[in-house]
Amino acid sequence: MMAAEGRKVWIDGRMVDFADAHIHVLNHTFHYGVGVFEGIRAYETKQGPAIFRLSDHVARLITSARLYHMPIPYTAEQIERAVLETQAANEILPSYIRPIVYRGEPSLGVKNSTGKVSLAIAAIPAKKYLGEGSEEGVRAKISPFRKPHSDALPTYSKAAGNYISSYLAGVDAQKDGYEEAILLDQNGYVAEGSGENIFLVRDEKVYTPGLESDILLGITRKSVLQIATDLGYPVVEKLISVNELLTADEAFFTGTYAEIAPIKEVSHFPIGTETPGPITTEILRVFRKAIRGEDPKYTHWLTAVPTLARAVPRARK
Ligand SMILES: Cc1ncc(COP(=O)(O)O)c(C=O)c1O
Repeated sequence: MMAAEGRKVWIDGRMVDFADAHIHVLNHTFHYGVGVFEGIRAYETKQGPAIFRLSDHVARLITSARLYHMPIPYTAEQIERAVLETQAANEILPSYIRPIVYRGEPSLGVKNSTGKVSLAIAAIPAKKYLGEGSEEGVRAKISPFRKPHSDALPTYSKAAGNYISSYLAGVDAQKDGYEEAILLDQNGYVAEGSGENIFLVRDEKVYTPGLESDILLGITRKSVLQIATDLGYPVVEKLISVNELLTADEAFFTGTYAEIAPIKEVSHFPIGTETPGPITTEILRVFRKAIRGEDPKYTHWLTAVPTLARAVPRARK
């Protein structure tokens, strides 16, 4: 159980004590994995607490839900406000905010798509997702579990059930002593980590798998593509073979929780000659400034969190 003294969870417009944020064991999402979620970060910035790329996360949540026939009963603006209110009510920084869309009422039957759709939003303290040493480089294993193909389920959707293969891949890698798994797509090309996108650098160009590898279109990935372009590096989204990854000059994971994590080794093959490599370091430096509101070029990626006094009464309406 997480220590959660004084914390609140936003559930369908109400702020509920962390300890009381329960749902029925026969809820549809629990049984069939039909629920969609987001992972969002709030940071301390020069301008005060702020959420990174809030509208992008909320837009992806709405698309994820649409792809699983779950009409969210809130507008994008209402969801954004609820995320801000949750952050304000919890005052944890840096925080990891988890909105989840689910069918919480008792209902068995796989194809039940009519139950009430709910939204809950919780915030937890953010830690180093890939371990304390992750900034110096993580070891990753190419997983025997592949990403499901998009003809099996909408891989674009950040859905609970989509994470079953990520779970198996991640546990397999961890049991073998690695920090993370790298999943290949159904054609054997590099897709992504169990909870991150992946990049490589070769000959001063930045590469990442494209949507054709059935990846989640990460918001950190999008930010890194922008930063790399702004730094003057050509960026290429394409199919990436295992060979290309193993012989890359540099490689790194990107994700909201993992942020930017350099990869030092893949399945016992060292990547490049130093970790983090020079281009990863440059991108990481700009990314860090962006999340702290220290680079005017990227302050539009941040949404200020209102103060508690303003936020809580609005949540109770
Ligand atoms: C499977 C998977 N791919 C990629 C990502 C990175 O996405 P984002 O940068 O939007 O967090 C995540 C993180 O949530 C993920 O779980």
